[in-house]
Formats: sequence, structure tokens, C-alpha cells
Amino acid sequence: MSADLQFTVEPNTQPASDDQRAQTLANPGFGQHFSDHMAIATWTRENGWHDARITAFGPLELSPATSVFHYAQTIFEGMKAYRHLDDSIHLFRPEANAARFNRSAQRLALPELPEDAFLDSLHKLIEIDKAWVPAGGETSLYLRPFMFGSDPFLGVRPSAQVTYCAIASPAGSYFAKGVKPVRIWLSEEYTRAAPGGTGAAKTGGNYASSLLAQAEAIEQGCDQVAFLDAVEKKWIEELGGMNLYFVLDDSTVVTPELSGTILEGITRDSILKLVTDLGYSVTERKISIDEWREGAASGRIQEVFACGTAAVITPVASLKWNGGEVQVADGEGGKVTAAVRSALLDLQYGRATDTHGWMTKVC
Ligand code: PLP
Ligand code: COI
Repeated sequence: MSADLQFTVEPNTQPASDDQRAQTLANPGFGQHFSDHMAIATWTRENGWHDARITAFGPLELSPATSVFHYAQTIFEGMKAYRHLDDSIHLFRPEANAARFNRSAQRLALPELPEDAFLDSLHKLIEIDKAWVPAGGETSLYLRPFMFGSDPFLGVRPSAQVTYCAIASPAGSYFAKGVKPVRIWLSEEYTRAAPGGTGAAKTGGNYASSLLAQAEAIEQGCDQVAFLDAVEKKWIEELGGMNLYFVLDDSTVVTPELSGTILEGITRDSILKLVTDLGYSVTERKISIDEWREGAASGRIQEVFACGTAAVITPVASLKWNGGEVQVADGEGGKVTAAVRSALLDLQYGRATDTHGWMTKVC
């Protein structure tokens, strides 16, 4: 039962060959390849969490009536396992992901998964698939825990059966062009989340509703879309899959405050502390789109960067909208972005002392 849910381990009898795996790890890209195993567990209203296993990665068989296909009752997390120079494998703030997973679950009327069970599933998945954690550069094993309503029932109500699953995908850079400054498209027609909605939850619907705007961004020659608040269409919220930071000409650092409609990024939260460690003052406040446009034009805004697990820290080169575009400084990214980026990566890859106690050794 739920209180001490433990994942049993059923090794894959047909894992990838060493050669196949080596070929994948040589150029992993993002989200295209998966390790030999996955974690899976079931919840029912009658029996709570049960049948928790690490088993061979493979297709799920689901009735076409499965509720998630119709009503999108689903949540996910994104986190990474890092290989250190001594070949040990580490997670970055996994308890924060476990806690956010349960906040998302609560908002989507899904059952909470005990944090220990969430962590147990990932530790066991990483241990058995340790060979899938790439080495070198900024590579990692991207972990994708998710949960969805799996009841084959068309009534609109919280699913009486829920599936938890976690998969692992060797990862290089999220952006196909690598760590290059990105162009941002401002969506003025579409919004991502409204007060009282699900913007602060990591749920599929937020991403589904961002796709048209993201496609528009690509059409416009941009890499990511930026969303404004849904009420005044004035305040910068976040990108489709990343939070934003701004560095001003007096070396202060600002990021949009948590409005209830943006995702509380764990990278965002970590950067608040890292920039303070680096000696800059940092503020969470409302930032208007005019402040970005005018600040980039006048030089008041010196640097802009995007942050998130998949994207790490990526400099923003410019902001484009229907009718104009403004470059940020020389469009190449600046020294604060570079310093925070190094500080974060040095911690994650074990090259710096973990003064905040953020790293967990898995194996
Ligand atoms: N905002 C959105 C919409 C995201 O999808 C993500 C990615 O997870 C983030 C922000 C950054 O969150 P984190 O730093 O926890 O990965
Ligand atoms: C992440 O950074 O983990 C994300 O979830 C962003 C995106 C890949 C959805």
C-alpha cells in the first residue's frame, strides 16, 4: 500500500547491445532515445498505490476510452541525472521535483505519490540504467516522471485509476543548434495561463495550448515563444518551456515574480541563490513587455537568459513581435549569464563544492 510503496526490479531480458547504446550516447540529441527500463505503478480509488515495478521500457496498452485521451488529466516532471568525473551519478534537487509533482497532482485532481516512492522509482531506474547516463560535455540522462488518468471511462470526473510512469532519455542540448543565443517570439494573440487556471502546474494541457504559438515562433525564425499575462497582456510571464531572467545595466538581476500562472522552475529558484552567491542583487517582480522592449533598445537591459532543466541557461539574442524586433546588447549573451551558467553546471557535474546541499548521489 501507499505508505511504503517500493519499486521491485524486473530486469529487461532484451536490453540494447553495448554497440547500440554507444551509438545512441555518441549523439543523443533531446528526447529521441530511451533507456532499457521504465518505472510504473498503479493507483486505484479502492487500493491506493500498488504494483510498483521497474520493468522493460515498452509500449503501454490502453483502452481508447482511457480518460487522459479525452480530458487531459496528466502531469509530468523533468529532471536530469549527471555523471561525475569519478563515474558516480547524481541528481539535482530531486526532492523539489517530488514536491512540485505533488503540487501538480493536487491541482489536476490526481492522487499524490509519496515523495519517497517518487525518489525510489528514479533511484532504481537510474541504478539499473546507469550505463545510459552519457559522459562528457553537457550531457545527462533526462528523466521524465509522469502520471495520468488511466480509467477506461468517459464520464468527466477525476479518474478512479491512475498510472505513474518514469522513463529515461539520454540527452545532449535541448536546442538543435546547441548552446547558441536564441531568438524569442512574443505571442500577443495567445496566452498560456490565466488566474485560477493550471499555469503553475506541470500539466500537458499547458504545453498543448502553447504549441500553436510555438509553431508561430518557428515560422518567424525564432526558437521559443514568450507569453504575457492573460488579464492585461502586459506582464512577461515565461517561455513555452522555460523561465526568464534579465540583467540590468547596474548589475542587478530580475525575474518575473511567481504570479500563480507561471511554473515555479527549480532552475529559476536555484539561480536566485546562485546570483546572490556571485555577488549580484536579485529581485522577483513584475516586468512589463515595454520594459523589455525599451530596456533592450536603450541598453538598460544588458542580458536576458532563459532557464530550465532541459534548456539549462540559454542566452536570449533578441525579442521579435508582429512589427518589430529588438536585440539584447550585442546578441551574444553576457558575462552574468555565462557566470551563472558555469556556477550551475559546475555544481551539477560535481566540479564545485555543493554548498547548498542540492546534489544527491544515486550510485
Ligand atoms: N516553465 C515551463 C513552462 C517549463 O516547462 C519549465 C521546464 O520544466 C520551466 C519553466 C523550468 O522549470 P525547471 O527549472 O524546474 O525545469
Ligand atoms: C524541462 O525543462 O524539463 C521541461 O519540461 C521543458 C520542456 C522540455 C517541456
